[in-house]
Amino acid sequence: MNENQEDQYLQIQNAARLGGGQGRIDKQHAAGKLTARERIGKLLDPGTFIETGLYVSHRSSGFGMEDKRYATDGVITGWGKINGHRVYVFAQDFTILGGSLGEAHGRKIAQLMDLAYQNGAPLIGINDSGGARIQEGVDSLAAYGEIFYRNTRASGVTPQISLIMGPCAGGAVYSPGITDFVFMLDQNAFMFITGPEVIKAVTHEEVTFETLGGAVMHSEKSGVAHFTAPDEEALFNQLRWLLSYLPPNNLTPPPVIPATDDPQRLTPELKTIVPDEQNQPYDMHGVIEVLVDDGEFLEVQPGYAQNILVGFGRLDGHPVGWIANQPGFLAGVLDIDAADKSARFIRFCDAFHIPLVTLVDTPGFLPGSDQEHDGIIRHGAKLIYAYAEATVPKLAIILRKAYGGAYIVMSSKHLRSDYNLAWPQAEIAVMGPEGAVKIIFRNEIKTAEDPGAAAQERARQYREEFANPYLAASRGYVDDIILPRESRLRLIAALESLLDKRQNTPPRKHGNIPL
Ligand code: HXC
Repeated sequence: MNENQEDQYLQIQNAARLGGGQGRIDKQHAAGKLTARERIGKLLDPGTFIETGLYVSHRSSGFGMEDKRYATDGVITGWGKINGHRVYVFAQDFTILGGSLGEAHGRKIAQLMDLAYQNGAPLIGINDSGGARIQEGVDSLAAYGEIFYRNTRASGVTPQISLIMGPCAGGAVYSPGITDFVFMLDQNAFMFITGPEVIKAVTHEEVTFETLGGAVMHSEKSGVAHFTAPDEEALFNQLRWLLSYLPPNNLTPPPVIPATDDPQRLTPELKTIVPDEQNQPYDMHGVIEVLVDDGEFLEVQPGYAQNILVGFGRLDGHPVGWIANQPGFLAGVLDIDAADKSARFIRFCDAFHIPLVTLVDTPGFLPGSDQEHDGIIRHGAKLIYAYAEATVPKLAIILRKAYGGAYIVMSSKHLRSDYNLAWPQAEIAVMGPEGAVKIIFRNEIKTAEDPGAAAQERARQYREEFANPYLAASRGYVDDIILPRESRLRLIAALESLLDKRQNTPPRKHGNIPL
């Protein structure tokens, strides 16, 4: 190599690393965003990034595209490590043609996805893009299609995670939409199929980027986003936390760490956290935090369908997926959104061998014509399906109420939960005492001298007879009745016995989950 060749090499390298140029980098910084290259530098363990396709650029012409050729073609791709574990990562570079996706840009992402899939490692996509590169027409659309195909192929094989750190518009949203977890920045991040301008032109509705597709909307209303963060560093920290629970692929067990909390620890606090009074609300977070190792619980979708909690926490070093009714929000009823949220979480855990623990305290399904018209039957069925189909170890504790359909749905033994416990105050019945007596003693109560007192007396009898865990235990529907303080050690003992669980499923192409 002569000096000219070395100079040329360095010149090309330096130009490539400048993306769309200093002016556009300054603009990106002024908008409060890091560049794609800076983001990769902050996310990965130092010195671990190996870049692919630095020299790739587009080959389109027309619309002045001949003069807009940049190395990377607006997406940085490669692999590196996070906490010592290999991940494949792409970061769209908004400084180059607005991070828009054309043929070459899309091919780079697709090739990276192939590598992640073949090598069994998580894929992390940093999205910051104006969507399909308009000048490249159908080639852009084709490239998206190739990505969507690969997202679907890798679903349940390697974890796929999308970070929305800028615009994500048009068909671009569907790759994140297929991935397992979507992170969004509180500011600067938007996801929508059609933007405010198009909406105004078509329907005359005026909406802002924020209300249409910002982080608050997607984390509280649409359920598209699983995590939000106030800034880029916080988002990366949350991602690292999530990855600490996940295996790299479906053939590798989830990462067990040496126990950091006493597996024999008693949990007497639970007796006071959960009120005796059946209808008194409380915060289920408090229960989970007492049960998991070191109180560490990573909640997934905390702002969406808050009547059910899902998330990751360890038991004696083993990652566990937790599903828990939340009596502190809408009394912990099951509704359409709660069913969707928990069913998807259960299926993720099952795909990646993460055992499930369910904490039951729910009055049942939410009554109302809105729910019926919007398809609670179809959505509630997803939750049944997800529990029934999951073959990972499944444990449950009934803390207080398990009424009606909710008793069956919430990881009952009838859906092949492996080991179910109940506290002494658990009420397992077709419905709550007050509702039940109004139906079965309607005439008697109506004609009583004091209908109120008659109803109360019948409710007391009903509670004594039915609303307890002993009848269910006598049928073998509950494996044991335990005191609240024994909850953690009993869960750990049961989990330990189930770690080598094998359960075969019938040969079939795939089931048909009600979508
Ligand atoms: C080509 C694009 C582009 C695109 C942005 N740019 N989006 N170039 N194709 N889709 C270019 C701009 O022309 C500009 O170039 C540079 O990127 C920065 O964009 P600005 O508009 O100046 O930035 P900003 O004001 O921050 O606005 C960002 C934005 C806006 C909100 C993303 O650019 C925008 O609305 N873009 C279009 C979004 C959209 O509707 N996409 C959907 C496409 S259809 P210069 O050279 O001036 O700096 C689609 C369907 C795919 O995606 C279906 C797949 C199945």
